[in-house]
Amino acid sequence: MKLLIAGGAGYLGTTLIPKILERGYSVDVVDLFWFGNKLPVEVGILNKDIFDLTVADLAGYQQVIFLAGLSNDPMAEYSPSKNFIFNAAAPAFLAYVAKQAGVKRYIYASSCSVYGYTENELYDETRPVSSNYPYGISKLQGEQGVMNLVDAGFSVVALRKGTASGYSPRMRLDLIINTMFKCAIRDGEITVNNPSIWRPIISVEDAASAYIRAIEANEKLSGIFNVASGNYTVGEVDDRVKTQIEEQLGNRIRLNIKHIKDVRNYKVAVEKAGNVLSFHPRHDVGTIVQNLIENMDKFSDWDNPLYYNIRTFQKLEEDQAPEPVLTKATAGR
Ligand SMILES: NC(=O)c1ccc[n+]([C@@H]2O[C@H](COP(=O)([O-])OP(=O)(O)OC[C@H]3O[C@@H](n4cnc5c(N)ncnc54)[C@H](O)[C@@H]3O)[C@@H](O)[C@H]2O)c1
Repeated sequence: MKLLIAGGAGYLGTTLIPKILERGYSVDVVDLFWFGNKLPVEVGILNKDIFDLTVADLAGYQQVIFLAGLSNDPMAEYSPSKNFIFNAAAPAFLAYVAKQAGVKRYIYASSCSVYGYTENELYDETRPVSSNYPYGISKLQGEQGVMNLVDAGFSVVALRKGTASGYSPRMRLDLIINTMFKCAIRDGEITVNNPSIWRPIISVEDAASAYIRAIEANEKLSGIFNVASGNYTVGEVDDRVKTQIEEQLGNRIRLNIKHIKDVRNYKVAVEKAGNVLSFHPRHDVGTIVQNLIENMDKFSDWDNPLYYNIRTFQKLEEDQAPEPVLTKATAGR
């Protein structure tokens, strides 16, 4: 089987792709390589924007996976226009072109952020979604766009992932546990903006397993699935990260607890993914921290801008900004 992965050079893709190769499938990646290239050499590379793909480019792939776009709130708020183009329009465009090319399955990287601010109830996929911030709205628009294309010959699986964490070859230190881990080791202090809010967390390893289950699911199967390793309050996450680092590494970690209002608060039910996709998470906060400790020497250049999506994206946007145009009034000054 031959797969095309859009955005495959990112945090999730660089953990997922070696597992796909191990299963004997062939993989090409289309990516703009904003954060460099840590992909295995066997992967075919298309260094271009998704919007430059044609039906001919997509011929011959059995499945297409969308992992691209602006992958967090700070990027979405820095460039709302690119957010809506890359997160809402691009997944639908790619699914449309893939279907025309005869691709059989499309897998979309959705997000639990579509749920918005909910009041401490467990949300399954049938519950109404209510995000009112650019990232959450655009991920929902992308999901709706691709699900509209489902028919007897084209199946679509949307995976609403919790916030990912853990080590990946293309590393991110702007994700909940990864950020706490960095702050604990580098500064000896974890700052918590709001300990009472709920978040579904997914280890990047469990996230990769969810994609494998979707790739290998019955070819007629379509649907939307919550996927997470577990639901936690942020206060519980920081306690577990602190305790584990103190016990294993002997560091003393201070906590700086604040009570800043958040627009997101949700916990999700993952039974549907278990029952229909056979997705069963194996990780929790403890194993994620363990995985970070074991790989720490690979990302302890803590301030590398590539580990922080907003820093790299902002720099790329500034570098591409056109020179200010000289007007008659300013030209002679
Ligand atoms: N990481 C998380 O916690 C999380 C949680 C839920 C959902 N998601 C979604 O999962 C996907 C993958 O997340 P990630 O953390 O691996 O992201 P990432 O930011 O690490 O990688 C995104 C990749 O997409 C590429 N890209 C972006 N726009 C492109 C375009 N128009 N054409 C070609 N390439 C493009 C970038 O160069 C980058 O390599 C994203 O769609 C994200 O919204 C992520």
